[in-house]
Amino acid sequence: MLPSVVFALCLSLLGSARGADALSFDDALAKHENTTTLRDQLRDVFPDLHRRLRAASSSNPVTFLAPSNDAFAKTVYYPVVGPAFSNNDEASLEMQSAIMTYHVVLGKHTSDTLLPTFQYFPTWLNNATYSNVTGGQRIGGVMQREEEMIWTSGIANRSPVTVADIEFEGGVIHIVDSLAVPPQHFPDTAITHSTAAEPFQLTSFLGATYFSPTEDKASNLSRFLNDTTDLTIFAPNNVALERVASALSAMSKTPSTLADLLEFHIVRSSNGPYYSTNLTNTTTLTTINGKQITVTLNSNSLFADSARVITPDLLILNGVMHVIDAVLSPNVTDVDPNPKLATASPLLSTNADFSTSQAPFTTFAPNVRLLPEPTPTDVVGDGSGDGTGSSRTSRTGSPNGVSTGVAGSAASTVVAESRFGIAVAAYLVLSAAIGAAALMA
Ligand SMILES: *[C@@H]1O[C@H](CO)[C@@H](O)[C@H](O)[C@H]1NC(C)=O
Ligand SMILES: *[C@@H]1O[C@H](CO)[C@@H](O)[C@H](O)[C@H]1NC(C)=O
Ligand SMILES: *[C@@H]1O[C@H](CO)[C@@H](O)[C@H](O)[C@H]1NC(C)=O
Ligand SMILES: *[C@@H]1O[C@H](CO)[C@@H](O)[C@H](O)[C@H]1NC(C)=O
Ligand SMILES: *[C@@H]1O[C@H](CO)[C@@H](O)[C@H](O)[C@H]1NC(C)=O
Ligand SMILES: *[C@@H]1O[C@H](CO)[C@@H](O)[C@H](O)[C@H]1NC(C)=O
Ligand SMILES: *[C@@H]1O[C@H](CO)[C@@H](O)[C@H](O)[C@H]1NC(C)=O
Ligand SMILES: *[C@@H]1O[C@H](CO)[C@@H](O)[C@H](O)[C@H]1NC(C)=O
Repeated sequence: MLPSVVFALCLSLLGSARGADALSFDDALAKHENTTTLRDQLRDVFPDLHRRLRAASSSNPVTFLAPSNDAFAKTVYYPVVGPAFSNNDEASLEMQSAIMTYHVVLGKHTSDTLLPTFQYFPTWLNNATYSNVTGGQRIGGVMQREEEMIWTSGIANRSPVTVADIEFEGGVIHIVDSLAVPPQHFPDTAITHSTAAEPFQLTSFLGATYFSPTEDKASNLSRFLNDTTDLTIFAPNNVALERVASALSAMSKTPSTLADLLEFHIVRSSNGPYYSTNLTNTTTLTTINGKQITVTLNSNSLFADSARVITPDLLILNGVMHVIDAVLSPNVTDVDPNPKLATASPLLSTNADFSTSQAPFTTFAPNVRLLPEPTPTDVVGDGSGDGTGSSRTSRTGSPNGVSTGVAGSAASTVVAESRFGIAVAAYLVLSAAIGAAALMA
């Protein structure tokens, strides 16, 4: 028994002594058959990134998430990466470059060092056009059930690792079978999530931040949310706003009161956003209206004042968003969280006709789209008009509406969107489960 332990020890010492002649980046990658597209792309399209990766050293290691051939082949089905990789104009090439840069994570994270709960690591993506977060945009990494490595990125995209722990002299490479998506602006992210299951719908809160009784956007909150650095947004879901719709409607007659309420959901920090990993029991956060929210951990759930965080850590271009199940109020901060309630009690007066009311403010939400224009093959392949076109057009009544594309391609747009909607719903259910698991640990 003892000799074998000693032998293993010798082997591992030998292993670490060999660290000095670890494979170069190129040699490590070349050993894997499914990285030919990546290798071509690095050589031909992203020479700067390639040079930086080859120069990485063990004194300042990185973790490179290497997209497989499959990952590149299916970009078209993904928002953000789809449009970027379907075009070759200058803006698309810059976006492609930003996407690839986002795949380089600071530090060496292996299946031995990643935790069973999500952690958010800075990446090389730190150009403010694509990431307005101090220290570089974050990506989430986790080891599920001690065997499956997952990386989570913008719009709750998940990139499972197919081959983990490929050592090279500058750190470690993991092969992922879908590209990580750089987090997008708050409005885009909120709208994308609204194609998913009801608990995650955020168009009501989003619309409220665009609401203006006159046309001049009195609070300018929408602009602030879109382009201020290091935000943490506690976003109540649509149901939460629906339940107090009449109180909100009354409040919206005095825009400064509505702004006071909305601003109480937003935190701006000078040293990066508050991911769930930054929130410990009884953390207090000063919101942009000057008053404080208290975060507590209770019965495995995170609460912001008395509202439960139902989905933590939705990454956005300029921060992070946590979905909560009740509208907060700066004037009602003394209600304790009650983990026994499935949904937190509303703090504003509730509507009698809750079940039939509509989520307020949704018509003020801007109309943004993250999906690629469908290709002709999509139309041939799945274009069996499924009658859901009307749900698409119902979104176009927005006063801030941006045209959503060519009328002739509407049917295939719906197909692509609903296919993506299902994917997002699946991602979100999974990420909620992971979030719950993370909080239980
Ligand atoms: C490479 O891709 C093929 C086709 O997708 C797959 O069958 C194979 O398992 C992959 N190889 C590795 C090492 O992941
Ligand atoms: C950031 O990206 C924009 C758009 O691609 C580019 O014009 C700008 O030069 C970049 N800034 C830096 C500091 O690299
Ligand atoms: C709101 O933004 C507009 C421009 O978007 C600006 O003209 C206006 O002065 C701003 N109002 C306030 C109160 O900051
Ligand atoms: C958010 O800001 C970006 C530029 O930083 C702009 O392109 C985009 O249109 C804005 N989105 C909305 C919904 O205002
Ligand atoms: C990033 O944030 C800064 C400070 O809040 C802001 O001035 C700038 O416009 C933002 N940049 C983008 C591209 O959103
Ligand atoms: C909170 O109370 C203050 C003082 O009465 C008032 O000015 C403010 O509009 C209230 N805010 C909300 C959201 O009710
Ligand atoms: C969140 O935690 C990270 C890692 O400990 C730290 O670097 C960062 O400053 C924290 N963010 C805030 C807002 O405190
Ligand atoms: C969090 O703090 C509250 C109030 O101090 C306490 O009742 C609760 O037990 C704490 N929760 C955890 C998980 O420590």
